Amino acid sequence: MARKFFVGGNWKCNGTSEEVKKIVSVLNGGQVPSPDVVEVVVSPPFVFLPEVKNSLRPEFHVAAQNCWVKKGGAYTGEVSAEMLHNLGIPWVILGHSERRAILGETNEFVGEKVVYALSQGLKVIACVGETLEQRESGSTMEVVAAQTKAIAEKIKDWSNVVIAYEPVWAIGTGKVASPAQAQEVHNELRKWLAANVSPEVAASTRIIYGGSVNGANCKELAGQPDIDGFLVGGASLKPEFIDIIKSAE
Ligand code: G3H
Repeated sequence: MARKFFVGGNWKCNGTSEEVKKIVSVLNGGQVPSPDVVEVVVSPPFVFLPEVKNSLRPEFHVAAQNCWVKKGGAYTGEVSAEMLHNLGIPWVILGHSERRAILGETNEFVGEKVVYALSQGLKVIACVGETLEQRESGSTMEVVAAQTKAIAEKIKDWSNVVIAYEPVWAIGTGKVASPAQAQEVHNELRKWLAANVSPEVAASTRIIYGGSVNGANCKELAGQPDIDGFLVGGASLKPEFIDIIKSAE
């Protein structure tokens, strides 16, 4: 089954109102492949979501960077999946390594968040990835499989899930995984899905790569058979994000 190329831009905790306007204007003016070829989703901080959603070209969509694990209520500082759905925000990023590492989100907690977000009609970009220490000790696939399993054992329908493989050592470091390194994990992850979920889910689920992707390295990564797109951090705030979207062709 053909998997449509997916390019996500995770703006993380960056931007002022003025900067957001500039980024949107670059995105709106960029010449990019048609939406039949590439799905583009940008993820501004919560406070800018409505503004970006309303000013962005219609074929690009928005994602929140997180949401609460269950129905809203007395959870100070949190934003619920129902609120995002109510505002017409179609996507949410869950399980980003920065939240796992800094805020202590466990595999199980991320799995619960994915289930709840899907149940409220959101589509999910679910992040997995190993640390440098885990890679060097040879446990990359074990770590990534455990993170994926915590989601897989709770959901049945994968049609609204994109998996983002983001090796922690490559995030924001300028040290991108080589195309061969990324392809190896994507391929193993797809085999894991085939064996533990179903061959159909393995064939249809998009597995995108994140970690120091930029305008110069995207094309070669995009050429790997199991890399179905990118989740871009730093470069998604710059005009080169347009070049990354173009790597879909
Ligand atoms: O979500 C995006 C990733 O954390 C990648 O960030 O492109 O700045 O390395 P980066």
